[in-house]
Amino acid sequence: MTEELSVFDAIYNCRAMRRLDSREVPEELLLKLVDAANQAPSGSNMQAARWLIVRDAEVKQQLAELNRINVEAYVGPQNGRPAALPHQDAEKRQRMLNAVMWQKDHMHEIPALIIACLDYGEKVEGIHLYRNAGSIWPGIQNLLLAARALGLGAAPTTLALRDQDAARAVLKLPENFAAMCLIPVGYPLGKFGPVTRKPLDEVMRFDRWS
Ligand SMILES: Cc1cc2nc3c(=O)[nH]c(=O)nc-3n(C[C@H](O)[C@H](O)[C@H](O)COP(=O)(O)O)c2cc1C
Repeated sequence: MTEELSVFDAIYNCRAMRRLDSREVPEELLLKLVDAANQAPSGSNMQAARWLIVRDAEVKQQLAELNRINVEAYVGPQNGRPAALPHQDAEKRQRMLNAVMWQKDHMHEIPALIIACLDYGEKVEGIHLYRNAGSIWPGIQNLLLAARALGLGAAPTTLALRDQDAARAVLKLPENFAAMCLIPVGYPLGKFGPVTRKPLDEVMRFDRWS
């Protein structure tokens, strides 16, 4: 039996796990993840989040191809992506990039790609696409924490979904759906570990900012 983590242990150890085994994940665990996601709050309690668990080899291959195109554009010379950040040195960033590249090359082999969608109730286009995004991300985070608690690796990704029309065509989504996040899920090849974040005194104040 999987040892269950406390909610705080899950929160502090929920790193983006990109290197995943191709070993199948039992369906009951995948359903458990989506059920946890489905417990999240939404604006006006609209409950417009929709979840697609992709296991079909052909659909995974098509999503992997969309991801490849966008990852290659993202890491290209003109992308403006910083090589280092004040809180993440170049070496650590390179390690992250290596994992992104691994994921690019292996996405089609990952056992399940879970797509978090939002049903807008009407055709969605352009800048309107990301309104109400606050009603999908709590569910995505629930899913990531549930995966961590069950010993499954997962990561939130958006690059594969940059071309919404292409994603909608691959997934046969209705035109009123937006595909907001693709979460590859599987057993991790590497080790889980703690997340590293900025210290609280840098990101928080009491009462007024200055
Ligand atoms: C909105 C959003 C979009 C993201 N898109 C991608 C993505 O397309 N590909 C990817 O590999 N990781 C993606 N990530 C994962 C981030 O890179 C990751 O959460 C961040 O680097 C922190 O990693 P850590 O939790 O392992 O410290 C995304 C995360 C968020 C919140």
